[in-house]
Amino acid sequence: MQINENILILDFGSQYTQIIARKVRENGVFAEIKPFDISEEEFRTINPNGLILSGGPSSVYADDAPKPTIDVFNVGVPVLGICYGLQLIAYNLDGKVDSAAHREYGRAELIIDKNDDLFKDVPQNTNVWMSHGDALVEPPKGFEVIGHSGNSPICAVRSKERQIYGVQFHPEVHHSDDGKQILNNFIRTICGCEEEWNASHYIDNAVKEIREQVGSDKVLCALSGGVDSTVLAALLHKAIGPQLHCLHVDSGLMRTDESKMIMDLFNDSFDISIDLIDGEDTFIGRLDGVSDPEKKRKIIGKSFIDIFEVAAKKHGNVKWLAQGTLYPDVIESVSTRGPSATIKSHHNVGGLPEKMNMKLLEPFRELFKDEVRAVGRELGVPDWFVARHPFPGPGLAIRVLGGLSSEKLAILRKADDIYLDEIRKAGLYDDIWQAFAVLLPVKSVGVMGDERTYEYTCALRAVTSVDGMTADWFHMPYEVLAKMSNRIINEVRGINRVVYVITSKPPGTIEWE
Ligand code: XMP
Repeated sequence: MQINENILILDFGSQYTQIIARKVRENGVFAEIKPFDISEEEFRTINPNGLILSGGPSSVYADDAPKPTIDVFNVGVPVLGICYGLQLIAYNLDGKVDSAAHREYGRAELIIDKNDDLFKDVPQNTNVWMSHGDALVEPPKGFEVIGHSGNSPICAVRSKERQIYGVQFHPEVHHSDDGKQILNNFIRTICGCEEEWNASHYIDNAVKEIREQVGSDKVLCALSGGVDSTVLAALLHKAIGPQLHCLHVDSGLMRTDESKMIMDLFNDSFDISIDLIDGEDTFIGRLDGVSDPEKKRKIIGKSFIDIFEVAAKKHGNVKWLAQGTLYPDVIESVSTRGPSATIKSHHNVGGLPEKMNMKLLEPFRELFKDEVRAVGRELGVPDWFVARHPFPGPGLAIRVLGGLSSEKLAILRKADDIYLDEIRKAGLYDDIWQAFAVLLPVKSVGVMGDERTYEYTCALRAVTSVDGMTADWFHMPYEVLAKMSNRIINEVRGINRVVYVITSKPPGTIEWE
């Protein structure tokens, strides 16, 4: 199906830009993000029904402040400026922005002063999320103030005549209670969008784009056993059929029987051929004695690429390497112009070597995990598989903390099996976003059967999350914890102490390295 309606988001560097896109898509309208300096020609090609100007870390008065190259206020479609976007509106249309204003971060109460389409079905007082330095002190000419908060006398403005709206707060973030409704009002009532965009539209569009991007080139897709790369393979198969070559590398860093499960799934559920490559010696050999987490990630990224390049040569002239990179991987791995810092090098983004003979094909770069799951279901990936917890590309290497060895990997595998087995038996698997065991490089003294022991500590991690960007620790019932701890210590030689992790993200990350 052809997608006729869409909302364009211009990115001025906010860490929330992708969340705007996601919230628009959750409201059933297709949204795409482009850099703030999009050309007039590209804008006309996209031909959006509405334009959203994102937030950003700059002050509009800064010399290097990002300014759009197109005349965003005369594009003939409604415009919504969010935070920096609002300040841009004021700056360009003769309002006044005060860079010495009080900075405001966190929860605030928006009080709606004038009924407007933007606030349809929104209570007069509602919680919103603020994150700004500069603030508006005078609305642009011809604009009315339609909402204020305790610290921001001008929190929302409109020009009904010009169909331009601006808000100081972030309607896209979870903590703005009615933010989703406000965005829905903008895209449905103000921009007039009527279509219901969903996973099947996404697939149609992605298939078209992938075909255009790769032409008649061959594509290599490496399956990690995770949901993302599996859904990606199914999508690529639909898009380019025999031009796709799939492989799975058994890195020796997988969970028990994981590689067999992947091969069985592909052989049973899809008509996609897949090569199995034994990479255990390469990975374990290169990681021997390495304990620095970033070094481990870089070694793993490089080892995967070395193996992929050999495989690419085997299939002759493979130009593209497909990766199931998601938005959270991108935002946490790459320092963009926004305030986001590099947290860790996710192997399918920052962990890849700079020099590679293949180009990257990453159709999910803008999606979140639950969106990929919806695409997977639509493509016929079995439900039990789509619902699986995420598993990181670097595998168990980042769960054996410190120096790696085959012996430690074997200990971790056994503990992890028991942990997940007990989670399943307790019927908790689907309540948890991700659960895994970690082997700590800490030995401590214990006593078992009158004998002194001096063994490793195993940490159990389980989190709830929506997209992996933030996470809370899962409140595991005590009796389930007791069973897990008991079984791990009784059944796994090498572990004499089990601890449960009660740190959320932030300040922790989900993985330990
Ligand atoms: P963190 O530890 O950064 O993890 O809070 C967020 C989510 O991403 C997964 N993760 C990775 N996935 N390659 C991946 O494909 C990686 O290098 C990687 N590192 C972390 C992690 O398991 C969690 O679901």
